[in-house]
Amino acid sequence: MAQDVDGGTTFGTWTDSCAQYMYKTSFLELVNTEQFRGMNVLDVGGGNGLLKTLLSEANVTTVDIDANKRPDICQDALTYIPDTSPDVVFGRYVLHYLTTTQATRLLAHIGTYCKRMVIIQFVNDWSAIDIKRSISQGSGDHAKTFYRWSDLFALCDRQPWVINRTATTKTTITAEFYRNRLGVSGARQHTESIVMLELQHIGDNK
Ligand SMILES: C[S@@+](CC[C@H](N)C(=O)[O-])C[C@H]1O[C@@H](n2cnc3c(N)ncnc32)[C@H](O)[C@@H]1O
Repeated sequence: MAQDVDGGTTFGTWTDSCAQYMYKTSFLELVNTEQFRGMNVLDVGGGNGLLKTLLSEANVTTVDIDANKRPDICQDALTYIPDTSPDVVFGRYVLHYLTTTQATRLLAHIGTYCKRMVIIQFVNDWSAIDIKRSISQGSGDHAKTFYRWSDLFALCDRQPWVINRTATTKTTITAEFYRNRLGVSGARQHTESIVMLELQHIGDNK
């Protein structure tokens, strides 16, 4: 049975340099935070609200299915509909928590209430995906969907969305990261790309 390896409100606060890069520095490299100043941001799968600090000039609301992370709204993002349309929806490191069918549904669902989205997601080549699968299974974590860049692109660049802009950075995921993140020791180090996709709504008639 899957354990809660996310750590509730401490999620993403691990102090190793790899975690700091994954959850903080890479965001500031990939996202021009200034452009979201004053905007209403809905952060789907927003967890414990790390984006609130990173987008401190925006009004960020988190929706997450995990009550342990104390989101602003504890609901399934696949069905949640905000009362007022946000200016932009962010989804950082959430797609791999879903099946590809659910991820496709999530993007279509968000398209019913918002015209702009930013996705941030790590992607790997096949060899690193194999490493990540075995680490995740060994930790008792729930099943995850790990993406290659081409698969993520295909998932996002479809009705009602078109990819407007992308940015990428690359990092090394260390054994120390997996020890802190998932409680496993001796994990194999590998490289990983973190990509940012800006999606623009184009309606249903691409
Ligand atoms: C890896 S965490 C990322 C948290 C946050 N976006 C960040 O970058 O710090 C993924 C989050 O997605 C949430 N999640 C997974 N499926 C969800 C769903 N159907 N609806 C809402 N949240 C979901 C999980 O509970 C988890 O908090």
